[in-house]
Amino acid sequence: MSLATPLVRPALFAGQTKLLIGNQWVESADGGTFETLNPATGETISDVCAASATDVDLAVKAARHALERGPWGKMEAGERGRLMFKLADLVERHTEELAQLETLNSGKTINDTRGDVGGVVATLRYYAGWADKIEGKTIPSRKGFFSYTLRQPVGVVGQIIPWNFPLLMLAWKWGPALACGNTIVMKPAEQTPLSALRMGELAIEAGFPAGVINLLNGYGETTGAAIVDHPGIDKLAFTGHVDTAKIIARNAANTLKRVTFELGGKSPNIVFADADLEAAVNGAYHAIYFNGGQCCTAGSRLFVEESIRPEFVARLAQKTKQRRLGSPLDTTVEQGPQVSLEQMNKILGYVKLGEEQGATLVAGGAKWGERGFFVEPTLFDNVTDQMAIATDEIFGPVVSVLPFSGTDDLIERANNTNYGLAAAVWTKDIDKAHRFAQQIQAGTVWINCYHIFDVTTPFGGFKESGYGREKGEEALLNYTETKTVTIKVE
Ligand code: NAI
Ligand code: MG
Repeated sequence: MSLATPLVRPALFAGQTKLLIGNQWVESADGGTFETLNPATGETISDVCAASATDVDLAVKAARHALERGPWGKMEAGERGRLMFKLADLVERHTEELAQLETLNSGKTINDTRGDVGGVVATLRYYAGWADKIEGKTIPSRKGFFSYTLRQPVGVVGQIIPWNFPLLMLAWKWGPALACGNTIVMKPAEQTPLSALRMGELAIEAGFPAGVINLLNGYGETTGAAIVDHPGIDKLAFTGHVDTAKIIARNAANTLKRVTFELGGKSPNIVFADADLEAAVNGAYHAIYFNGGQCCTAGSRLFVEESIRPEFVARLAQKTKQRRLGSPLDTTVEQGPQVSLEQMNKILGYVKLGEEQGATLVAGGAKWGERGFFVEPTLFDNVTDQMAIATDEIFGPVVSVLPFSGTDDLIERANNTNYGLAAAVWTKDIDKAHRFAQQIQAGTVWINCYHIFDVTTPFGGFKESGYGREKGEEALLNYTETKTVTIKVE
């Protein structure tokens, strides 16, 4: 397949744009739609149906019916797993199509979206394997009694996801929910509605019964809020901004639905003078610029030990200036556009603040190209802890070098943030590395590497970076209720 021209040309887009409710593709009850764009050009790809509160209610009813009356609830656990394996096979077979669709709608590079689709396949297979291994315990309780636990699905789960990894976030949420036997009402991000719709078609093809997976595109304040408020939704899983999570936590309190949150970060990436310099420069580059910096784990606070800082910054600046921007469908391009005009403007606003507050702009700092939402990879040196670029999640390709000498207050400085998602350290000294791993407040710590993810390892945040863990066995805990059964034994 030639990559010179996109598979799906905006003017000809003929993919799915409706809502998926009970395995039917339907328009929204109030006829609402919204435009979805190609962020590389700013052009409209298509109108997409926007779910109203009525549609949310219909989807919840379909999900409830599937759970309590349909074949799903009675299905053997292994059979659920087989459906998931089948979906994984279908996704694998459609890798190129899904990757191109994702690139078209999100601006992520084609190399990255191919990787994401691989991640989706791995996630679905991993959780497919879990489906028939969700086990309870037998417990030696009081004399004359015998207890055991059942782990049952929480029920109908609402899942609200962002735009930075649309397919992968979908898989991280579908995987454990389906393995445990729940049914799903999902809202993809309004910036990137398309790849989830294709996944919905593949799920029907794989044979998931009606109502197990429902997909409702729309805005957060309308569709999302209706999911959060609905009393028929038992559990909510959300990935996105901390402030959105706080609104959701307050609103979800009305129905006491279970909530798990995977939120942002301002992750410290610490380079000691004894590190392998080449590896650390490459690691710091990848930590911030991967996916255009649109990663909750982005290594945006780059602490560099003073004695190596000049050389380190010079090398990183050189790499930064050479980073190749352009059409995300071009396999030689390293960075596509940011997802939206809003995000591009937010990032450029922070660059301006960085300059105003006295940081040294070493590379980048401007909008790139004639059209689309591109931002140059941007490196600031001489950043101090209180500057906005050192405290706020920018969610773009902007890194702040924070100098340090000596380790006295290093951990305190690294932990001096409301976030606690990820952290990394570069050193050849294993004592230093392990001490850092112990003391840093973060759900993920990388030593001499960065952004190494695998579906097998739990992922989530300390502090305001969230609660609950995704991936690995721990994600299953969010999707089952434990029931204790006690029997009198004479
Ligand atoms: P957001 O948190 O507003 O959106 C994430 C999802 O939540 C979307 O599906 C959105 O429609 C939904 N949503 C928004 N308001 C809602 C509400 N009141 N009730 C229910 N659902 C709602 O994030 P947004 O506006 O797209 O991006 C803003 C910033 O958030 C970014 O610049 C970045 O800093 C951060 N962010 C963090 C992500 C992460 O992976 N942790 C992902 C995306 C954004
Ligand atoms: Mg928002």
